[in-house]
Amino acid sequence: MKTKECVAQLKSLGIDHRTSRYLLKEVAGVSNFLLDPEVPDSTCRKIFRYAKKISTGYPVQYALGYSYFYKNKFKVNRHVLIPRFDTERLVEEALKYIEPTSRVLDCCTGSGCVGLSILCEKHCDMTLSDISRGALRVAKSNAKSLHLDPHITRSDMLSDLTKYDVIVCNPPYIKSGDIASLDSAVQHEPILALDGDVDGLKYYRILKDQVREHLRPHGVMLVEIGYDIQDSVIELFKDTFRDISTVYDYGNNPRVVILTNLINPNIGEWL
Ligand SMILES: C[S@@+](CC[C@H](N)C(=O)[O-])C[C@H]1O[C@@H](n2cnc3c(N)ncnc32)[C@H](O)[C@@H]1O
Repeated sequence: MKTKECVAQLKSLGIDHRTSRYLLKEVAGVSNFLLDPEVPDSTCRKIFRYAKKISTGYPVQYALGYSYFYKNKFKVNRHVLIPRFDTERLVEEALKYIEPTSRVLDCCTGSGCVGLSILCEKHCDMTLSDISRGALRVAKSNAKSLHLDPHITRSDMLSDLTKYDVIVCNPPYIKSGDIASLDSAVQHEPILALDGDVDGLKYYRILKDQVREHLRPHGVMLVEIGYDIQDSVIELFKDTFRDISTVYDYGNNPRVVILTNLINPNIGEWL
């Protein structure tokens, strides 16, 4: 079948133009649509099988079993959040603080996309942690595919872990009441990866309570935030860190909060 005809049939299944092109590129290797190349029948059948699932709102990345993030391809399935482009800002910023001797934690690692992307760029002692066993299996598989060997451990936030120089964390931060109104593809992602409780702040509160025990005195913690919770997150951490700054994503939304200089609660000074 010709590519154009394939796109037309996908449209009749309710697949939008962008997704059709993505499927054809990924599954059939079509890169130049103007040439309207022939797609083998067996490949077309495969594409239509994916399309049937996607037409019900199932995410294209889960259908294919992978997603792209930063410079690599990551396995994904229903146990992990599909890595978001905006989260690449977390990687870019974290890299500025990491040295070869740094002990680094990617808390709430999911697919491992953040910690593994960092580890691809810089040698360091990296730990990936998550509470979800399913997510940890995916992170492990991604580490293997990238020929990386981080520590991978199950932990409820920081509670079962040691001390680090750098902690990166993209916690669940969607307000519970907002989840139902999100895109149908998001409804297929694990609720454990999305739900930040009524105000979206549940996991930042836990980090605030635990961080003094798990960050070295001159360490840094970088957390991803939702575009509308910047002020609340800063307010939450203002008695724990002396220096707090925000980095914006490429859509110009506040995306990463950088926390440095832990305050010693006893003397009100830096630790
Ligand atoms: C927003 S996802 C981030 C996944 C990945 N780091 C990324 O950026 O794509 C949040 C992750 O937090 C994990 N999580 C939820 N509750 C947790 C807890 N109490 N302790 C550790 N991880 C938790 C979820 O399983 C999920 O993988």
